[in-house]
Amino acid sequence: MRVLSGIQPTGNLHLGNYLGAIKQWVQMQDANPAGTCLFFLADLHALSQPVVAAELHANTIEMAATLLACGIDPARSVLFNQARVPAHSELAWLLGGTARMGWLNRMTQWKDKAGKSGETQSVDLFTYPVLQAADVLLYKATHVPVGHDQKQHLELARDIATKFNTDFGVELFPLPEPLISKEAPRIMSLRDGTAKMSKSDPSDASRINLVDSDDTIASKVKKAKSDADVLPEAFTDLEQRAEAKNLVTIYAVLAGKTPQEVTADFAGKGFGAFKPALADLAIAVLGPIRDRLTALLDDKAAVSAALAEGAAKANAIAAPTLRAAQAAVGLHV
Ligand code: TYM
Repeated sequence: MRVLSGIQPTGNLHLGNYLGAIKQWVQMQDANPAGTCLFFLADLHALSQPVVAAELHANTIEMAATLLACGIDPARSVLFNQARVPAHSELAWLLGGTARMGWLNRMTQWKDKAGKSGETQSVDLFTYPVLQAADVLLYKATHVPVGHDQKQHLELARDIATKFNTDFGVELFPLPEPLISKEAPRIMSLRDGTAKMSKSDPSDASRINLVDSDDTIASKVKKAKSDADVLPEAFTDLEQRAEAKNLVTIYAVLAGKTPQEVTADFAGKGFGAFKPALADLAIAVLGPIRDRLTALLDDKAAVSAALAEGAAKANAIAAPTLRAAQAAVGLHV
């Protein structure tokens, strides 16, 4: 078993990333022998959108520190940034010969971001899923814990692996299994229960960031869109109330309860009573992460050194797979 996942180092980690992905990463790290899990900062993927160099540079260290603060332990997990392992880019080029334009054209993330024609988008945005496939296949990952929005990219990685193995008559790449968080596959915006909580939402009030102060968390929860009804006994009765459903889901994952337990606890109460309880809970869970992050950011050199050490381990695991892929396609290397 090999577990692998990545996150783009673009700005702050938010509650959606944490509950949808990072929490699962930490659980998988804690449940498996040391060395099973690899987690990385997808700094190369960040280049698919316009970047300010100084920001990407700073964000990479900050995101690494955030992962450490959330509980990723470099003694048990391999933590690194993609750019320090050149095999990601090299394998991506090889897999680009296997992936088909039609497959990439059908990616919903590409369609959403590219708009009508995609003419003004970067080439990297279009080939983004090929690099993501390389990330996964390079380590022969078997399990990939992600939020729901990454499911299609992982299905593509499976298609690429299958076609590569078949075309070149090898059994090089095992098919990676996406592990979509059951509890929090899609945490929605606090301002709109039909849009996913996202770093790219212009409204900061739409998300809780892991760096937010206790007061900011409390005020964002207070201002979160909800409705005037009381909470029902059954969670399933929230199906038509997107915002209420999202807030109950967030409460449940933070509390380690099922959403049904939460509605049962708050049945008959309105958001005037529910929101303060949610704010207190969010502060109790996120406050210690933020405090650890603040301490880690006082010693960025140590975070950078941890990433370099992780990259050395990742390079060692990646090298034989890249070599086997090069040999499979007939390259002299
Ligand atoms: P990224 O950086 O957008 O998000 C990191 C992880 O957070 C999850 N996520 C969410 N989960 C639930 N609710 C939300 N509102 C929410 N928002 C984000 C994402 O699903 C993801 O798991 N392309 C990837 C990074 C990547 C990668 C990989 C992942 C690059 N290579 C290889 C897995 C394997 C991305 O941009 O994630």
